[in-house]
Amino acid sequence: MLAQDEFKRAVARAAMRFVQEGEIIGVGTGSTADCFIDELGRSKLQIAGAVSSSKRSATRLAHHGIQLFDLNDVETLSIYVDGADEIDAEFSMIKGGGGALTREKIVAAVAQTFVCIADASKKVERLGRFPLPVEVVPIARAYVMRELARYGAPRLRAGFATDNGNSIIDVHDLKIDDARALEERIDRIAGVVTNGLFAARGADVLLLGTANGVVVSKKSAVGAMDESSRLER
Ligand code: A5P
Repeated sequence: MLAQDEFKRAVARAAMRFVQEGEIIGVGTGSTADCFIDELGRSKLQIAGAVSSSKRSATRLAHHGIQLFDLNDVETLSIYVDGADEIDAEFSMIKGGGGALTREKIVAAVAQTFVCIADASKKVERLGRFPLPVEVVPIARAYVMRELARYGAPRLRAGFATDNGNSIIDVHDLKIDDARALEERIDRIAGVVTNGLFAARGADVLLLGTANGVVVSKKSAVGAMDESSRLER
């Protein structure tokens, strides 16, 4: 666990090299994103501010004195930096363990480059061991649960409401052969706001924290990684 925390801090530090002075950046949610926010706070680099993907991250950004922007007032973001619950070789991800998937997907859509920061445990051969979070309008809960049962074992995240006032259903035991197709199919169910598959818009850069240092990989036009380098120990 300690090593995992150290990996998170290492990738958060490494992500700082993608941050440019004077820019507005997109910021994700979760324990790894928290490390990145703390790095931003410590940095001498003066960014113009940030668009947050959650109330939780907004509070942390504000605590560091970082100016917050409403996404509606921003035309483009150079980067979006966020963690993942799982990421595969194509840089498709499962996200939303913290329940912020909808705002994460929206902010990521506006950004030119998605920088995923993750510890080595998040890298998987095949997505789906982590239960897939699906954000649902509350009155559609029972219907969506029945529909999701075609794909896996849906469970309501009890006592949880998203920043948008919706419910989360976590789908266990998924067999994901085509992440992009499944993302589209689940999004088409009436009452679903978003699902936590980030395949149509996956990451562009992966900073993976390993025992041997931070491994940097960039996605090529054909979808696989085309560059790997080790940044730091
Ligand atoms: C938040 O909703 C999630 O998408 C997180 O980005 C993801 O769960 C990774 O979180 P950790 O960095 O805490 O593992």
